[in-house]
Amino acid sequence: MWDSVFLRACRGESVAHAPVWLMRQAGRYMQHYRGIRAAHSFLSLCKDPALSAEVTVYARNWLGVDAAIIFSDILVVLEALGLPLSFADGDGPSLARPLQGMADVAALKDPLTAAGELGYVAEAIRLSVRALPADVPLIGFCGAPFTLAAYAIEGGSSRQFARTKSFMYTQEAAWHRLARLLVDALIPYLSAQIAAGATCVQIFDSWVGQLTRADFSEFAAPHLARLVAGIPAGVPVILFGTSTDHLLDLMADCGADVIGIDSTSDLGAGWRRCGGPGRVAVQGNLDPALLLAPRQRLLSAADAVLAAAAGQPGHIFNLGHGVLKQTDPEQARALVSHVHEQSQAR
Ligand code: CP3
Repeated sequence: MWDSVFLRACRGESVAHAPVWLMRQAGRYMQHYRGIRAAHSFLSLCKDPALSAEVTVYARNWLGVDAAIIFSDILVVLEALGLPLSFADGDGPSLARPLQGMADVAALKDPLTAAGELGYVAEAIRLSVRALPADVPLIGFCGAPFTLAAYAIEGGSSRQFARTKSFMYTQEAAWHRLARLLVDALIPYLSAQIAAGATCVQIFDSWVGQLTRADFSEFAAPHLARLVAGIPAGVPVILFGTSTDHLLDLMADCGADVIGIDSTSDLGAGWRRCGGPGRVAVQGNLDPALLLAPRQRLLSAADAVLAAAAGQPGHIFNLGHGVLKQTDPEQARALVSHVHEQSQAR
């Protein structure tokens, strides 16, 4: 297990071929998933360990990727903290009672108790690990304090994060208390995922790229660094965000082993900005929209990503963000085998 190409690459060690997995590799683009979803809501799927494991393992085995990621959602932690969560079909997530200030933060549930309510995720991990081939690692995950706080304050998805930033600037003490409380829940939550068999964890800070460098340093980085430091030693940590070109060095300073780079950055330049091979590994960064292109364009773009990584140890091939629901699964599978073949030939 510890010698899987994926875990070796996370640690910056040389590998026989580039490891590859795809963010949102299990999801609506797959017929198998849609079949299960026809009978269960998204949240009930997340809360049913047997179904979650089935979706997790099926996607990894069908694609032939080098790692599985547990099927769940970053927002279940907010629900466990006392914020009612729903997913209306096609509308994305909705959190009733968005946080407005200190009184709302103070009314959230105790973070350890909240983490304890997420036992269904650990159970899904146990079942997945049992069902996966022994040499295929399972990635656990959580949302980052900034991205989770943004959902809690906006009450759902947002483009400009006006409420979040206004909260941050005008109610600093409440912001930091919220971020600290999130980290106090996320550390035991990730620790439970690891105890259940996750051998790597990814922190999704999907929207942190909307912050300036100064604001990232003040409002996000200290909390991220404490989260990373609280994860059991020896388990590689991937820190991912989008539109983060201006933040990559600051993200690497938070202590993660692997930095996720989205498609708006150049992988080679981004890696150098993070300190380069030897300091951190990188994950990325094919534009998910290329899976909608004719096969030849898709595979050439994949070659360009491999060329940007230049065969240096510590590159994990992935998309720059999640698989789009319009994707033909055969394109995703062809991408995975192409990356394996091309990176072996080096
Ligand atoms: O990668 C995987 O295969 C694991 C599963 C996974 C999901 N969500 C399943 C999901 C992971 C890792 C996530 C993380 C997540 N959730 C993030 C961070 C990653 C990113 O995309 O930036 C965010 C921001 C969320 C919040 C969330 N969940 C949104 C905004 C949405 C709606 C958008 C959409 O794609 O529908 C979800 C729903 C969601 N999470 C679905 C899946 C498969 C679709 C639900 C359905 O079946 O209808």
